Formats: sequence, structure tokens, C-alpha cells
Amino acid sequence: MRNTSRKVVVVGTGFVGTSIAYSMINQGLINELVLIDVDREKAEGEALDLLDGMSWAQENIKVWAGDYTDCQDADIVVITAGVNQKPGQTRLELIDVNAGIMTSVVREVMGSGFDGILVIASNPVDVLTHVAWQASGLPSNRVVGTGTTLDTTRFRKELAQKLEIDPRSIHGYIIGEHGDSEVAVWSHTTVGGKPLLEFIVKNHRLTVEDLTTISDRVKNSAYEIINRKKATFYGIGMSVARIVRAILNNEQAVLPVSAYLDGEYGEKDLFTGVPSVVDQGGVREIIELNIDPAEKQKFAQSCSQLREVIQSLDK
Ligand code: 2OP
Repeated sequence: MRNTSRKVVVVGTGFVGTSIAYSMINQGLINELVLIDVDREKAEGEALDLLDGMSWAQENIKVWAGDYTDCQDADIVVITAGVNQKPGQTRLELIDVNAGIMTSVVREVMGSGFDGILVIASNPVDVLTHVAWQASGLPSNRVVGTGTTLDTTRFRKELAQKLEIDPRSIHGYIIGEHGDSEVAVWSHTTVGGKPLLEFIVKNHRLTVEDLTTISDRVKNSAYEIINRKKATFYGIGMSVARIVRAILNNEQAVLPVSAYLDGEYGEKDLFTGVPSVVDQGGVREIIELNIDPAEKQKFAQSCSQLREVIQSLDK
């Protein structure tokens, strides 16, 4: 089922917000796009620039620089507001500044009478999704963090390059924190239905050492990019567009978004990246993988690290 009204508001028109906007426009996902930024002129400039290409877009999309009243009838509000990592800085180190920004943005969004789905992309995304959920008063399924969608596409890309197979034919997830404690779920990664770990034994296209190299490359990808170009934005832009597509088209797609755990994977009262069924209502359900004991332990560590940060905010 395709939603006829497809209005998305993007809060924050930095590199991430504008890459999300550009991806959504080029994928023909939306018919109304509102850009909000504390720097109103920046939002206006971005809207004008995007509108300039509209003759070549898949449909005539209305784009404008707006304010929070525009959220009232939006299907989705994507929040990218906040500071981003400097070279060498971790995502979790951004929490003090970004938690305050997230709370005030969400209050403004909700003050409009917004009744759609919140998609959170600011870092540290798992903690800020929790903050956004608390500030919004929305049911937890309607607050969706980008989670490990970007890490998962990086993971599939790394495996694709190694095996020379289309990443879209590789199924597997990174779960847990979108950050340093994330976990590669090797036990449930498959290629054309064949368990990935069998590629090591059968024909030596992969070695055990490759697994560590690949998971390290995935984990460090953002650091590598930030060291070179100061920011990452295309990968997250395409990841958010994928989530928006799943919501607007009521796809029931399985994506590793940051979702609220209420006992799944032995964790409670926490948002983190896990494969989740995403439809027009947000997160419909979490797919609980029977991950192996080592992965389970790493996942528990990742969750306890996130919980510590959330608890430190309450103090
Ligand atoms: C990324 O992983 C920085 O979270 C951002 O690219």
C-alpha cells in the first residue's frame, strides 16, 4: 500500500540532513519536503537549490524552508540536529550537547500537534532515540533510530567486495550500539541462503582472520571517512531514505533500526540496533535472532554501555 500524502520534515540542514533530502527526492519517495534549521537562511538556500532540479525529478515535489508548525500534518519528521564528531571523537562523547538539542527539537515538533513517526539520525543515535522518545510522549514503536542500518550496509559492502557478490544478495546484520561496541552477527549471515561461515571451510574465499578485519573496518569506517573529509553523509543519507521508504510504503521490511527492547534479546527499556519489521506504524516487531553465546555477550556489553550513558543523563 502506498501512502498518498508523503510529507517529510527534515530538522537540521547540515551535510546529513541535506543528503537525506537529496536521496529522498532522487528516489521519488515523497511529495512534500520541509527543511527546518536554526539557520533559516541555510534552510532556504538548500530548499532553493533542491527545487532547481525539480524538472528532472520523478515527480513534482514541493520543497520549502519551514518552521515547526509544518510538522503538524507530516508523516515523518527526521531529526539530524546536533553537533557531529570531530576527528578522533567517539559518538558517545557528543551526548552532553546533543541530548539538550534533541529534547528541545522534539518538544517543538510535538508542540505542532505532530502525530506521525519520528526518525532520529543524530548521534549517539541509540541514546538520542531514547531521549526523543521520552521527550515526545509517543509510543515507543513510533520513534525509530537509524540504529545499525548504516553499519549493516557497510558490513554487506565489505563482504560483497571480498566475495565478489552483490551486497543486496548478502544477508546479515550489525546489531547493538551504532558505534564502537557494535556487534557483527556472523552466526546469522547468509549469502544466497548459504551460511557465511561455510565459505571459510569450503573454499577458502574467506579466512577466520578476514572476519576480524571486516568487522573492524565496519566499526572504524566513520573514523576513516571523518579523518579524510571531516564528516560522513552519503551513507547515512541513503540509509535514512531506506527507512523512510519502508515507512511511507508500509513495506514491512526488516531493517536494523534502533528499536525499543522490552525483553527481546534479554534487554529491557533500551533502544538499540536490532533487525525490526518496519511499516507505516514504525517498528511493528523485533526479529529476535538466536545469536551465538559470544555474540550475545558482546551485545549485552553494548547494551550495558548504552544504559550507563542513558542513566548518566538522569543524574
Ligand atoms: C557514521 O557512522 C558518523 O555515525 C556516523 O557515518
